[in-house]
Amino acid sequence: MGKTKKGLRAGEKPGHQADETLRVLISKARIQKRVGEIARQIRRDFPKDIIHLIGVLKGSIFFLADLARELGGEVSFDFLGVSSYGKGLDSTGEVKLTKDLDVTIEGKTVLVVEDILDTGLTLKYLLKLFEERKPKHLRVAVLLDKVDRRIADVQADYVGFEIPNEFVVGYGLDYAERYRNLGDVCQLRIAGPGKKAE
Ligand code: PRP
Repeated sequence: MGKTKKGLRAGEKPGHQADETLRVLISKARIQKRVGEIARQIRRDFPKDIIHLIGVLKGSIFFLADLARELGGEVSFDFLGVSSYGKGLDSTGEVKLTKDLDVTIEGKTVLVVEDILDTGLTLKYLLKLFEERKPKHLRVAVLLDKVDRRIADVQADYVGFEIPNEFVVGYGLDYAERYRNLGDVCQLRIAGPGKKAE
């Protein structure tokens, strides 16, 4: 594929730094349409329930905010923070809770909201933690699912898009805390030998 003078490939635009380029993988319009579809599906499954959304910080915040407004009916939400030690095939899968929920989930219809499902180790940890707290229903919504990367035997009930194993940023997803505020989900490429945004 041809490159421009600035080293950009077709469909790419400059990133925040000189060696970073972005390519839109899923546009803002496609995301908004899909979030609406998922919200209607969830509401059909739980037409009368108060749906208690749990956002996993920080990547889920835009997805949660859009989903909450599209769901209609009664919704409440809470957040929790986790950190994981190493990711990938040699990962220990150790996940640590850095911020617990503010309110109980016992007896509630709970929807865990994640921006991305990757190895699944985080979700496996969370589902075990939440199941012990006896919610009435426990479901999972993820915007992006990197199916090929899965290590843990978990899956989401509601999936926005299945994506290949590319490094993606935007709509909550970051690279070193940057790019979270992009409206589109973009593939990030970092120029230079051996440089990879992971
Ligand atoms: C991302 C995502 C999930 C986790 C999924 O969070 O929000 O919590 O990784 O990965 P896994 O399936 O391999 O466990 P991240 O650690 O990037 O934190 P952030 O949301 O604060 O950016």
